[in-house]
Amino acid sequence: MISKLLSSAIIASSALAYPAPPDGGVGVSGDELPEYTPMSDFDTASFVVGVNQEFLELDLFHNILASFPDEDFEAVGIDASQRYYIQEMAEQEVGHAEMINNILASVGQTSQQCSYKYPYTTVREALAFAEYITRFGEAGVYGFLPHLDSRPIAQLLLQSITTEAKQEVSMAMMAGEFPQPYWFNMGLTQAMAWSLLVPYLDSCPESNPRVEFPVFPALNVTNANATLDTSIESAVSNNYTHVAQPGRQLELQWEAPGMAVGPSEQNYTTDKNPDLGDPSHVAFIHQLNVTYAPLENIDTEAMTATTIHPDFMMYGKGMGVNGTVFIAITDEEVPVTPYNFSLLNDHVHAFGPYFAGI
Ligand SMILES: *[C@@H]1O[C@H](CO)[C@@H](O)[C@H](O)[C@H]1NC(C)=O
Ligand SMILES: *[C@@H]1O[C@H](CO)[C@@H](O)[C@H](O)[C@H]1NC(C)=O
Ligand SMILES: *[C@@H]1O[C@H](CO)[C@@H](O)[C@H](O)[C@H]1NC(C)=O
Ligand SMILES: *[C@@H]1O[C@H](CO)[C@@H](O)[C@H](O)[C@H]1NC(C)=O
Ligand SMILES: *[C@@H]1O[C@H](CO)[C@@H](O)[C@H](O)[C@H]1NC(C)=O
Ligand SMILES: *[C@@H]1O[C@H](CO)[C@@H](O)[C@H](O)[C@H]1NC(C)=O
Ligand SMILES: *[C@@H]1O[C@H](CO)[C@@H](O)[C@H](O)[C@H]1NC(C)=O
Repeated sequence: MISKLLSSAIIASSALAYPAPPDGGVGVSGDELPEYTPMSDFDTASFVVGVNQEFLELDLFHNILASFPDEDFEAVGIDASQRYYIQEMAEQEVGHAEMINNILASVGQTSQQCSYKYPYTTVREALAFAEYITRFGEAGVYGFLPHLDSRPIAQLLLQSITTEAKQEVSMAMMAGEFPQPYWFNMGLTQAMAWSLLVPYLDSCPESNPRVEFPVFPALNVTNANATLDTSIESAVSNNYTHVAQPGRQLELQWEAPGMAVGPSEQNYTTDKNPDLGDPSHVAFIHQLNVTYAPLENIDTEAMTATTIHPDFMMYGKGMGVNGTVFIAITDEEVPVTPYNFSLLNDHVHAFGPYFAGI
């Protein structure tokens, strides 16, 4: 009896305490049913890049497992359980690609898998390559997610890209790198992610929609040290790889626009804004920041120059330009912040990865 009284008292008081929702928020009233469909060309084109990325990762994870005998994996500390984990990551991509294609089906823009070409010849190189691919896959989505017209589809993509972030860290660990040499993950534009992805597409079904973003001319750091120390084994953490050195001089080389790239049947060529000024700076794209360093020793014929790895620490005390980051040669120091980062596109002469510290 007493307990019955008590519990009804608790119910009464908790019912009284049930708070009204705070004012504001979008899509939380229940007045509108969410529609999981692109609301603009921007949404559709962004998801077309996304599905290309997911299909490549699906193929890549399978290819890594199929390319090397078990002994090669064991030799770098990747046991059968870790190999099964890579297998499961491939299966995650099946789900991600299906989710994105379901959304694209509502506007008649689905894609199928392409065939791919990969640059690795050892397990360690393959894992480092997978870290790189998932790094820009992740960053490419962060760059456009808050700009999508459709919030419902942004929600679905968010819930897939967070698993991709975990894949990236897992690949870094398996490759023997320090897992997270940064305080924040950067965002990239669709054009930047697509520029990094398209060279690995060998041939694609003709029915695949064309990607409606430019491919920037490639940019390389040509004096990077050998990428991987063969003495390092897979580990949850490892001090080795990313020991970025502010002050280090980087030798750069880039390509002219107009080069054919990607699957030949789709006629993609590299491109840049025709109204660009002369190359003057390198934008280091990392964490929340774009940090500029002047371009020096510029040779416009050979398309080479040097720059200095900037001395930056997040909030004056955190990580610097570290790990797998991205660089662009620009015509000026464009002031951009994470939410207006895409305004950098129109200033890019060339774009590529920088494996800081290697
Ligand atoms: C490459 O590694 C050597 C030895 O660790 C170092 O002295 C040199 O500065 C590195 N090169 C670059 C471009 O960082
Ligand atoms: C890794 O770096 C940390 C911090 O400097 C240090 O405490 C630790 O001993 C290092 N690990 C190895 C294996 O040297
Ligand atoms: C950059 O490196 C890639 C891969 O090694 C190579 O295919 C490409 O030709 C290089 N481009 C430049 C401009 O050095
Ligand atoms: C690519 O170019 C060829 C030759 O000009 C043309 O036949 C083909 O239709 C083009 N393909 C696409 C996807 O534009
Ligand atoms: C770059 O990072 C610093 C923190 O070190 C921050 O105060 C600043 O606002 C950032 N700049 C941009 C453009 O995001
Ligand atoms: C880069 O990350 C490594 C860990 O791999 C750390 O030891 C180093 O201090 C970091 N350097 C900068 C400049 O952030
Ligand atoms: C981007 O936004 C920042 C404020 O966050 C502003 O200072 C900057 O001028 C903007 N960049 C451009 C190119 O409009």
